[in-house]
Amino acid sequence: MKKTIAVIKGDGIGPEIVSEAVAVLAKIAAKFGHDFTFDERLVGGAAYDATGDCLPDETLAACKGADAVLLGAVGGPKWDALPGPKRPEKRALLTLRKELGLFANLRPAKVWPTLRDASPLKAQVVDDGIDLLVVRELTGGVYFGEHLRSADGQSALDKMPYSVPEIERIARVAFAAARTRRNRVTSVDKANVLETSRLWRETVQRIRNAEYPDVALDFMYVDNAAMQLVRAPSHFDVILTENMFGDILSDEASQVTGSIGMLPSASLRGDGFGMYEPIHGSAPDIAGKGVANPLATILSAAMMLRHSFGLEAEAGAIERAVASTLESGVLTPDLGGTAATHDVGVAVASRV
Ligand code: IPM
Ligand code: MG
Repeated sequence: MKKTIAVIKGDGIGPEIVSEAVAVLAKIAAKFGHDFTFDERLVGGAAYDATGDCLPDETLAACKGADAVLLGAVGGPKWDALPGPKRPEKRALLTLRKELGLFANLRPAKVWPTLRDASPLKAQVVDDGIDLLVVRELTGGVYFGEHLRSADGQSALDKMPYSVPEIERIARVAFAAARTRRNRVTSVDKANVLETSRLWRETVQRIRNAEYPDVALDFMYVDNAAMQLVRAPSHFDVILTENMFGDILSDEASQVTGSIGMLPSASLRGDGFGMYEPIHGSAPDIAGKGVANPLATILSAAMMLRHSFGLEAEAGAIERAVASTLESGVLTPDLGGTAATHDVGVAVASRV
């Protein structure tokens, strides 16, 4: 298979972790006889320093022309003083998502057997099972509504728009994912207060009844969902939710598993194209030290093989190599080990 992957290292620990994921993908290509071209592009603070724009036109064009995008992390204190629309988070990340049409964000969170003690929850709660998938709507809601400040600067307004088609398409992604897992969707909203949530609830229920009657569906208010995630996480299989609630709950879910350094993500369009990134950020405090955990990025590369290229065996090979690396005790400091980023990358690549 011949594929072009746009590679965005980004800021902070981004370059260190992405290099390891690219090496693992190169190993996969060699072993399974694929031809992957890695097209490295600037995004984020790194792009701002080089060009004055966190998302240069040629980067966006290269991403649109690629078969998939692999991204490290963007942003850091150096660029925090930029005005809102120019900041890496808004200009680079949110614009990429919108321009590439990546409306479906998949964030799986599970406890790896060898990392069971990493979870801050009681052993009993962990042993009940933590293996869930957050399906977050990614191009709508309050992050993409109008952001307004009054002329006198004393009041502000952020709009939170959602339309039926936007809710329908993300609901279908969640129900389809549930069918490949434990067949249950929990749709999270704030329907006791928000009109967008009432529209969300009606639409999700209708799609379930009409198209996925075999999938179990329940609804939960977001405040309760935040509580249940730490009280009884085994309740959840697929969590379907809107953009901001998904942002918040996916961070919470990552901590429940014990280590944010392990969680990959896929941001998908309807046709299989996607952007893949770890859910952690650029971690400026440890950048350049060679100690960042590359596994979330490596697992994101596995998601790319599965979701964008349909290479299930290759994706599985990476995931098994990660499990075996964890068992072997080659761990970065966030997991209690002393290995360097590169050691972990080499350990995974050599097990592929
Ligand atoms: C994430 C991040 C981003 C988001 C920020 C950096 C804009 O928190 O991917 O979860 O809110 O989507
Ligand atoms: Mg977030």
